[in-house]
Amino acid sequence: MTAIESFRDLRVLVTGASSGIGRALSLRLAREGARVALVARRREELEALAAEIAAAGGEAVALPADVADRRQVEVCVEKARAALGGIDLLVNNAGYGHHRPFLDWDTEDMEQLLHVNYFGALYFTKALLPDMVARRRGWIVFVSSVAGRIAPPDESAYAASKFALTGLASSLSHEVEPHGVHVLTVFPGVIRTPFFDAEALAAMPPVARRGMVEVDGLVTAILRALERGRRELTHPRWMAAGYWAQTLAPRFLRRQLQRVTRRSREPSGS
Ligand SMILES: NC(=O)c1ccc[n+]([C@@H]2O[C@H](COP(=O)([O-])OP(=O)(O)OC[C@H]3O[C@@H](n4cnc5c(N)ncnc54)[C@H](OP(=O)(O)O)[C@@H]3O)[C@@H](O)[C@H]2O)c1
Repeated sequence: MTAIESFRDLRVLVTGASSGIGRALSLRLAREGARVALVARRREELEALAAEIAAAGGEAVALPADVADRRQVEVCVEKARAALGGIDLLVNNAGYGHHRPFLDWDTEDMEQLLHVNYFGALYFTKALLPDMVARRRGWIVFVSSVAGRIAPPDESAYAASKFALTGLASSLSHEVEPHGVHVLTVFPGVIRTPFFDAEALAAMPPVARRGMVEVDGLVTAILRALERGRRELTHPRWMAAGYWAQTLAPRFLRRQLQRVTRRSREPSGS
């Protein structure tokens, strides 16, 4: 277990930096003195963010790439190395999802989800981990989801991609910690970001909508978790109660998940 003592001059690569959690985390890390490589597909958003960081006295470089494309990831990592001289902290955050019954879910989109949410993280980790192990210094953050531990109805492909990510992170943590590389897996609950478009908000169970929290709280919690050398973070914290329920009262949890989902399928007002 290795804690980060200071973010000053730390060389960081954040995927999914053009929006939501990745954007907010990049801004905060840059404000703390880190030098940040910003990765996502939308070039304009990344360049605007890099300019915002520079205007505030920080350092960031925009590196547009599709994380689902292994070749693009390899080129992106080379550019990040050239720009920053190496990467100390990798944040595997890029991802997307839908709330959709399995039978309505397009097969190609289910494949794409796995490529973005799981293989994207795997490609970046493969490309950057050898340097970290050689230097005996590095941190890797995997942004999974509570749905990467508890699979609710109508999230089959998304939950599968996040369970895959959780498994990768947990196993890797054992392997690399003796080599000085620390793995933190983050399990966000429901965070207010553009992740939830109008379709997603309409389909969201009211209890989830009520439990939605702001992104800044999650960003603060991630930084604190890295400073404390924690291996896992669930935010908001109360959602971790679901893991206990899953182990100790699985039938109760199953009924709750089904009830909540059934209600979200009912027309509003019914
Ligand atoms: N918000 C929540 O409640 C919540 C809960 C649990 C887990 N999460 C996880 O948190 C992560 C960030 O989500 P968010 O809430 O910040 O959503 P968001 O605002 O929609 O941001 C998603 C980011 O991922 C990037 N991205 C998507 N596909 C990509 C691709 N093929 N290549 C490169 N970048 C790609 C997007 O950039 P471009 O479109 O520019 O490529 C964007 O920067 C995701 O992994 C999500 O599953 C979120």
